[in-house]
Parts: sequence; C-alpha cells; structure tokens
Amino acid sequence: GKLAVLFGGRSAEREISLKSGAEVAAAFNRLGVPVETIDVADDDWMRRVKSSFSQVFIALHGPGGEDGTVQGALECLGVKYTGSGVLASALAMDKYRCKQLWLGMGLSTPKFVELTAESDWSAIIADFGGVIVKPTCEGSSIGMSRAATAEELKSAWQEAQAYGRVFAEQWVVGSEYTVAILNGKAMPAIKLETDAEFYDFNAKYLSNETRYLCPCGLSTEDEQELSELALAAFNSLACEGWGRVDVMRDSAGRFNLLEVNTVPGMTDHSLVPMAAKQAGLNFDQLVLAILAGSLA
Ligand code: DAL
Ligand code: MG
Repeated sequence: GKLAVLFGGRSAEREISLKSGAEVAAAFNRLGVPVETIDVADDDWMRRVKSSFSQVFIALHGPGGEDGTVQGALECLGVKYTGSGVLASALAMDKYRCKQLWLGMGLSTPKFVELTAESDWSAIIADFGGVIVKPTCEGSSIGMSRAATAEELKSAWQEAQAYGRVFAEQWVVGSEYTVAILNGKAMPAIKLETDAEFYDFNAKYLSNETRYLCPCGLSTEDEQELSELALAAFNSLACEGWGRVDVMRDSAGRFNLLEVNTVPGMTDHSLVPMAAKQAGLNFDQLVLAILAGSLA
C-alpha cells in the first residue's frame, strides 16, 4: 500500500522532526519508493492518511506524535506504522514514570524527584548535591538546565515548567553513551563528548565541536553490559521496532539509564544513522530496515 511519512506537529521539537522527516522521505525517494510527507500540525492529517495510505513512517518527536497520541489515532484508522505502540510511546515520553518503572525492576537510573511549586529547594540540593532539571515530557534537551544551589534549582524549575511537569535528576559525573536499537538488536554504542555543560540542544544540533565516538572505546565486556542494559530498558517499556537508549556511566564505571527515545532523530547530526553506519548500514538501508521491521 501507499506510504506516508508523518512529520512536524506542534511540539517544541517540530523543527527537528521536519528535518528527520525530510531525510527519511529523501531516502525513500532514492530507493524508488513513492512517499508523501504529511505534517500532523495540519488538522486534516487523519483524513488524508485514511483516504490514501495503508502505512506510515512516523518521524515525529515530542508530545503529540512520539507519545502515543498519533499511534492511537493510527490504531483507530487501522493504518500500520513504524516503531513503538501506544503504551510504550506514552511511557517513554514520561521520563519520570519510566524511571519509577526501572527502579521497580532493579534497572539503575540516577536518583530523581518530581519538582512542584511546593518543593523544598534547599532540602533537595542538600540531599542530591548537583542536579539536572528536566521537563518530564520533552526531548532534545529542551528546557533542561543544571542546578547546584537552591536558587538555581528554583529558577531551573521555573524555566522547565513552561513545558509541563518537571523533575530533577542527580547530576552524574561521568560519560554519556547512547545505544540504538534496531529490530531486536543493539547497534554499536556511541560515546558523546561535549565541551558544553552537558549534551544540550546546541551540542546536539548546531555545534560542530561535539565529538561522537563510534566505536565508543569501551572494552568488549563493558560494551556488552551497556548493550544488554539498553535492550532491557527498551524491552521494559514494551518498545517495538527501533529506538535509542541514553545512558550515563558514572566515575565508578556503573551504567545508569537516562531515557528511551521511541522516535530518535534522523537528521544529519543524529545518532541512530551514525550507529547504523558503524554496523554497515547506510541511511537508506536503515530507513528500509525500520520500515520492514515494523510492518513485518
Ligand atoms: N528527541 C530527539 C529527536 C532524539 O532523541 O534524537
Ligand atoms: Mg529524548
């Protein structure tokens, strides 16, 4: 049946999604697969999909696309789509609930606490030391900042609040890794190195100074442990098809789960295409493998 790429939407990651979707559509064009792009910010998108398409590649990031809402609409329309289903998408979008689930399963994740207007800023800093404040349901590091004092924590919360619910996570001193998952297998891990305070929006998409190491430099055993943790995190949420798991390794060498992305970026600065390349898949082959794996 005919294929559409869904992109855009209304989340704060709209611009990234437009890039991801355009790259994916360009790949299908090169492969000779007819494809149309549909922006889900267009209120007519469901009618358009229903009238002409039997399968959809989801290239949406953030709330209103990566979070189970679009997946639910497609279930109602009876249209097949790439990636995770409703439950996994919704869970992965809520980093706070994800971390609660991992705690319950004995999967390690940095200590965390929800922030509200009633939070005791000084008590949290006394307990956690430095933290990173995150909107609970956002991506691409939007709204995130570090805090080391009660004052900084309160203003970080105020800033993050613009994006809805907020939590603070203990700041992990160490290195950041990411593991792409494709059709049940972990791809080679990537190590991220930035001179910025953390791997923020600028370091992700704009900077040419960010360093990506793939192979990541871990020993075979350590990378094996990282891959297994990433797969366990992916499976814990019942994710499907493809995704990317972000992990911090602390100074003692322990891996800590940060989050699962169910629709990782597919821009020219993005990580899944980089890991796929290391695994011997070019961008076009990656896009085809995602489609084939999801629609099988
Ligand atoms: N949220 C961005 C798109 C990513 O994880 O790649
Ligand atoms: Mg994310």
